[in-house]
Amino acid sequence: MNVGPLHPPLPMTRRRLFAGAGLAVAAIALSKRTIAEAITEDDYRVLRARPGLAHLRGNNNSPTPIWGYDGISPGPTLRVKHGDELKVRLVNDLHQSTTVHWHGLRLPNSMDGVPHLTQAPIEPGLSFDYRFTPPDAGTFWYHTHFGSSEQLARGLYGVLIVDERKPIEVDRDLILVIDDWRLQDDGTIQPSFGNFHDAMMAGRLGQYVTVNSEETFNLAVRANERLRLRIVNTANSRIFLFRIARHSARVMAVDGQPCTPDFAPNGLLRLAPGNRIDLCLDATLEPGSRSPITVDDLRGSELEIGQLVYDAGRPIRNIPLKEPEPLPDNPLSANLDIANALQIDVPLDGGGMGMMMGGMGMGMMGRMHGGMRPGAFNGFGIPAQERIWALASVSATGHDGPPIFKAERGRTVVLNFFNRTAFPHAMHIHGHHFRHLNENGKSWKPFWLDTVVVDVQRAERVAFVADNPGRWMIHCHMIEHMATGMAAWFQVT
Ligand code: C2O
Ligand code: CU
Repeated sequence: MNVGPLHPPLPMTRRRLFAGAGLAVAAIALSKRTIAEAITEDDYRVLRARPGLAHLRGNNNSPTPIWGYDGISPGPTLRVKHGDELKVRLVNDLHQSTTVHWHGLRLPNSMDGVPHLTQAPIEPGLSFDYRFTPPDAGTFWYHTHFGSSEQLARGLYGVLIVDERKPIEVDRDLILVIDDWRLQDDGTIQPSFGNFHDAMMAGRLGQYVTVNSEETFNLAVRANERLRLRIVNTANSRIFLFRIARHSARVMAVDGQPCTPDFAPNGLLRLAPGNRIDLCLDATLEPGSRSPITVDDLRGSELEIGQLVYDAGRPIRNIPLKEPEPLPDNPLSANLDIANALQIDVPLDGGGMGMMMGGMGMGMMGRMHGGMRPGAFNGFGIPAQERIWALASVSATGHDGPPIFKAERGRTVVLNFFNRTAFPHAMHIHGHHFRHLNENGKSWKPFWLDTVVVDVQRAERVAFVADNPGRWMIHCHMIEHMATGMAAWFQVT
């Protein structure tokens, strides 16, 4: 669906009309493409980063050349059982270097996929073996961490599911990957990756919103059916407000980690880039009903990106299922010692719109850090055109710069984010999940996150036990902000 900002949103009538049940399922069927199916002789699931085509504007329009894992976007869904090992051989068939980052996975540092910090970039024609046992069950995703403003925008991402040993009872388990694409009139991806204007402002926003790369996402359901929906925001920089109209959205997990099941207020789900939400959705309407699936258009209106389409036939069962059990807990370090925590202030500074209240104007940042040449690459393999943003008073310390803090293993860390800029930021840390603290700074919300939104002129505090040794990135997941300074690293010793 076209949502702007490049063009005014097109009228709803443009959406494909659909007739009958046959057309309706656009969700990725989870069960089929498993790792086991495509193993090589030496047991590795081979993933090829390569060009491909996607019908982002429907089948009646020319397809869009993309880059994807195995040439598709989203890439193949990788699926392992909790406790089993994941073995993926990434083969780079692009003409640029690349790496794969396993977003939200508390994995060994050497598998984290950050160029230079944790591994050498995988050059064109070469491969790299990723091998680890995911410690947590849940919904994760994998994506490029090299030249991300371009590579992520072109489609290099996929979903990784770690199945609970005892999953909750649902009729179907579906993935909804939301992305926005910036397309030109001929359907090709607009190539102004990482341009100064995007980087100064809200990042690269696309005008075309898709679910699972479908122009219109119509999901066939039967009355009284129960779905598990795993929603992932893979956009470079867009925050989505997502809603399925006339249904209560029971949130079961956030950022891959189980939470106390709860209904989202007004059914509205806010997903920043990188965020995941697992919903348990009961199809409570009458057979034959239809219900819009919407996202906001950033101007206060909701836009339909698809529908739940109820089968006209008998309900799947006469009585709806009873309330679901919570998902089983993951082995996270839950003993936060806030009183003795390492307290780290993380002011967020810079950007456009003249709100550099922290006295960190761009010129000053340039001077502080010697000002990297346009076109140069900093230590994370991201082009550093300009020093536009800063985090914790540094602007993109590369792998050869100092960490913004060091914590001994087992230490509780509290990060005090405060946003002194004119744009929201989605702050992500690698290798750990954190608690989102309440205003009192002592108690926390009943979920875990790996990416937290810090709104304009707001402070957010998060806490975690630094229990995973290594060199970990902390950055804004608005990719254009990350690539122009809002990125650093910390060390767990
Ligand atoms: Cu999903 Cu460093 O990112
Ligand atoms: Cu940001």
